[in-house]
Amino acid sequence: MISKEELRKNLESGLPILIYDFDGREEEIDMMFYAGKIDWKKIYTLRKEAGGLICYATGNEEAKKLGLTFQTEMLSNSQYKQLVKLPQYKDEPAFSLWVNHVDTRTGISDADRALTIEKLHEIISMIKTDEKTAKDKFYQEFYAPGHVPILIARGIGKRRGHTELSTTIASYAGLEKSVVIAEMLDEKNSLKKEKALQYSRNMGFLFVEGKEILKEVIL
Ligand code: 5RP
Ligand code: CA
Ligand code: ZN
Repeated sequence: MISKEELRKNLESGLPILIYDFDGREEEIDMMFYAGKIDWKKIYTLRKEAGGLICYATGNEEAKKLGLTFQTEMLSNSQYKQLVKLPQYKDEPAFSLWVNHVDTRTGISDADRALTIEKLHEIISMIKTDEKTAKDKFYQEFYAPGHVPILIARGIGKRRGHTELSTTIASYAGLEKSVVIAEMLDEKNSLKKEKALQYSRNMGFLFVEGKEILKEVIL
């Protein structure tokens, strides 16, 4: 496994880390940035080089402090409850609310999504020291639905998706559980692991597998 120091150095320099989940799960690679280093150029990179859905991910404790719940829970308590079904690989989805910061224009441009994520990161960074102000700011400064899905990690012991893997990497590296991820896509389908590995070597980006992360944090 890549050392904590190297992971931290990369994330703090604003470099992406590529994460493969597991054989038999999605078998996808997400490109991850630390949310504390996000800017419009990195959203552009996620859009052009990764191509999947650009999501903000944080931890369960952080989400709880903001009063955020899973979209599945919201749907279960609504007229749409029949829509709550598990995906093929039988993981409960990590999606919570989709938000925009109030200062965005429409919310979708690279600059707008970077602003939304930058402000989400500010709030998550504030939660440990001033939970009340963080929560107040969240409900004052964002509206929903918006263009940035928030994903909530359930903890690596409970669920092993990119949501948990990416937030685990951040906290393992000594940073906040506050990251941005998007799936790497190819023409028509998701990018295959071999191609993603080759891409990571060409670009000099770190490539981490879920099994390495588990070995480090659980075993
Ligand atoms: C949102 C997703 C992706 O799979 C993303 O990788 C995060 O989800 P998961 O934790 O399920 O892997 O569903 O685009
Ligand atoms: Ca998923
Ligand atoms: Zn995923």
